[in-house]
Amino acid sequence: MTMTERNSWNDDEVRAAFPALALRDDGVARVYMDAPGGTQVAGRVLSRMREAMVDHCANDGGAFRTSRLTDAGFATVHAAAAEFLGAAPDEVVFGLNTTTLLFHFSRMIAREWRPGDEIVVSRMDHDANVAPWLIAAEERGVTVRWLDIDPETFHYRYDALPSLVNPRTRLVACNHASNLLGTINDVARIVAAGRAVGAVTVVDAVQSAPHFAIDVAKIGCDLLASSPYKYFGPHAGLAYVRRELADRLRPLKVRPSPQTMPFKHAPGTPSFEAQLGTLGALEHLAWVGERFGGAVPGATLRSRIEAGFVASTAHEHALARRFLDGLATLRGVRLYGIGDPRALDERVPTFCLRIAGRDPAAMAEAFAARNIFVWSGSFYAYEVAGALGVRDDGGVLRIGFAHYNTMTEVDQALSLLAELAAGA
Ligand SMILES: Cc1ncc(COP(=O)(O)O)c(C=O)c1O
Repeated sequence: MTMTERNSWNDDEVRAAFPALALRDDGVARVYMDAPGGTQVAGRVLSRMREAMVDHCANDGGAFRTSRLTDAGFATVHAAAAEFLGAAPDEVVFGLNTTTLLFHFSRMIAREWRPGDEIVVSRMDHDANVAPWLIAAEERGVTVRWLDIDPETFHYRYDALPSLVNPRTRLVACNHASNLLGTINDVARIVAAGRAVGAVTVVDAVQSAPHFAIDVAKIGCDLLASSPYKYFGPHAGLAYVRRELADRLRPLKVRPSPQTMPFKHAPGTPSFEAQLGTLGALEHLAWVGERFGGAVPGATLRSRIEAGFVASTAHEHALARRFLDGLATLRGVRLYGIGDPRALDERVPTFCLRIAGRDPAAMAEAFAARNIFVWSGSFYAYEVAGALGVRDDGGVLRIGFAHYNTMTEVDQALSLLAELAAGA
């Protein structure tokens, strides 16, 4: 028995789990709608980081108490991260961030490429899952093919896959959820096409991991990256590396350092505090599952996290529905992404828009003046912004929700958008 009766979602209780949400500036509450750029940090994260930096601040592998505790923390974190991803503990690699992890792995993976080989990258991705492969392809004389997006539907052009992937394809890299469009992609389909020809498959899960449970077994990829600072944790990168790939790749590291996973692909001293902080983020997600998803405290971490996402998704969908309904009443607003409130399963609550005659940067400033934190630009979604024709033109305004946002906050954003639309 892993489920109990569910408590209904309680904004106050959820928000109390985030110390930063209590802060005010000259008496004005902060409205954080910058989640796609980085979320606020759960209190559990801070406790875990304090533990790493006060209770047992030592390098790993020693005979003394604090070092032993660091070793134990490392093992606990890898086991928890494995549950989070649906992987095994020796398939988990921590790094500085997703970009650094993907550059690091690209160097090792590209050693296997020969001139005449091909790779497939996508126009939906953040450049972190494009540039490492482009640079490696140039160095190895490899042809680059592009998986395009449909600017009308904001989905990938899946029908192009058969013409892009062939026996010469060595790598297929794709995006799980777009940081600009918000689209959730059928990565299992893209990965299956790559694996069918023996290509290494890479998924960027940075924007999906904050919103639903990742299952690398279901996706079937070889490498998947996420960034805990996007899901209530510290600045860090967290990757899944399929055991066969991890074993096959010759590591880039100093010779005396352990050559077996989970150490093999993590050169140098890691941020033990970021690792324990990530554990705190996963504990936060599990707590959401216990409080609002009906999970019992003794259930597995994964099942509690999954229950948490069921509950938080329902809340995020309610916010997104309200936002889209409100947006539909405004004139001159163009949403870059799926706008049908009945299709919320196809997107995360990240909304990019423009208002005719308004500069996105000036709009972000208008929001900032009300202490509402939003981004403008194109957020390194370089190809997407290019395909939509907004890259060299100020980009878009991005309003993103996390599970700590409220209906009141959504209404605040809508009312300012209405003012901006009316005055445009
Ligand atoms: C989809 C996506 N991929 C990759 C990244 C880069 O992540 P990091 O900052 O951890 O390198 C981001 C950051 O915004 C992102 O949104």
